[in-house]
Amino acid sequence: MNRKIVYLGMSADLIHPGHLNIIHEASKLGRVIVGVLTDKAIASYKRLPFMNYEQRALIVSNLKGVDEVIPQTTLDYIPNIEKIKPDFVVHGDDWKEGIQKEVRQRVVEKLTEWGGKVIDVPYTKGVSSTMFNKYLKEIGTTPDIRRARLRRLIGAKKIVRICESHSGLTGLIIENVSVDVNGVKKEFDGMWSSSLTDSTSKGKPDIEAVDLTTRLHSLNDALECTTKPIIYDGDTGGKVEHFVFTVRTLERLGVSAVIIEDKIGLKKNSLYGTSVPQTQDSIEGFCEKIKAGKKAQITADFMLIARIESFIAGKGLDDALKRGYAYVEAGADGIMIHSKDKSGDDIKSFCNEFRKKYPSTPIVVVPTTYNHITEEELSSWGVNIVIYANHMLRSAYPAMLNTAKSLLTYSRAYEASKEYCMPINEILDLIPVND
Ligand code: SPV
Ligand code: MG
Repeated sequence: MNRKIVYLGMSADLIHPGHLNIIHEASKLGRVIVGVLTDKAIASYKRLPFMNYEQRALIVSNLKGVDEVIPQTTLDYIPNIEKIKPDFVVHGDDWKEGIQKEVRQRVVEKLTEWGGKVIDVPYTKGVSSTMFNKYLKEIGTTPDIRRARLRRLIGAKKIVRICESHSGLTGLIIENVSVDVNGVKKEFDGMWSSSLTDSTSKGKPDIEAVDLTTRLHSLNDALECTTKPIIYDGDTGGKVEHFVFTVRTLERLGVSAVIIEDKIGLKKNSLYGTSVPQTQDSIEGFCEKIKAGKKAQITADFMLIARIESFIAGKGLDDALKRGYAYVEAGADGIMIHSKDKSGDDIKSFCNEFRKKYPSTPIVVVPTTYNHITEEELSSWGVNIVIYANHMLRSAYPAMLNTAKSLLTYSRAYEASKEYCMPINEILDLIPVND
């Protein structure tokens, strides 16, 4: 007997009775082929799933009623549907509304080409992936899961979007904030533990005066209340003999990557450029540090990213590239190319050249000065990670200063409360009690 072909696409990150019901209904119609969405397909419109594609495909292939599992590499169903020409496409009826409405319409139209039909299964009340995702977020994460997420994000997303955090509160903002842009939910992928903002919030200059243990206090506050991956600003990495311990410590905490810059001596913030004395390390010297760090690392997931300060030091593209190649050969898992130029041209030409030799080694950029360049453009240059390195602190400071001045000016809090402050009930409820 020739069984009819039934296709369903699902992320299948958190299997619940709603999924089982859809598979059960589908299996009554014929041979069930499930297209499990790849990490890339999911990351194109929402948060990366908890489990990777292999894990999710394995689970689905073991569910009763499933005959075959194939990858669905796009959010769009059409490529797979064109390939397998199913008689039925089965989906929860929730896709009749909202952003998925158009996807459904296109599937309906495509299927008419060979007389196929869409079957909408009534949505199972009381369970949804969104609800389970919320619960899982509340439970938290483990260092292993958090650490591994950065590599997964790099593999799945066109560009990974990171924002600076220097406290539990800024961590919470980055963890939870999202915006809807043309029906696509946009959020940050992770946090940057910046030496500049961490030092500044402690009232210290950005010269490695805040030691590792103290830096880890603010980092720990963010680790306590977030699940997203963290990239740690390791400054120069310090002495090689010390850096190997830093790598182990960060790894144990679940940090995904450390970025160290190729400078020696008293480090000053890069955005001073050549206006203060700063010394770049020799290529050999910095490669030794990279090698020692890589040797110290225990997990396969942790990343050591080498930061090139050639443009900051007033040197040109040749020096930057020479260093980039040497650092990758020494074992760096990625390159951060920094600049304080306002045009972004130097970064663009670096990416262009570097990509010719290393098509996939991750490139990280910090567009503080060339801030008119969009993520889309950076991605087209070959950039993998964009870091908004100081914006939480830089926006908080003027807001606090205005409030302080208002209190002084009016000798009361009435004006400041009205102008600059969030309502008391909002601050009380900002961090709910878990019950
Ligand atoms: C930081 O955020 O501390 C950095 C980036 O290292 S920059 O401030 O541009 O040097
Ligand atoms: Mg720094």
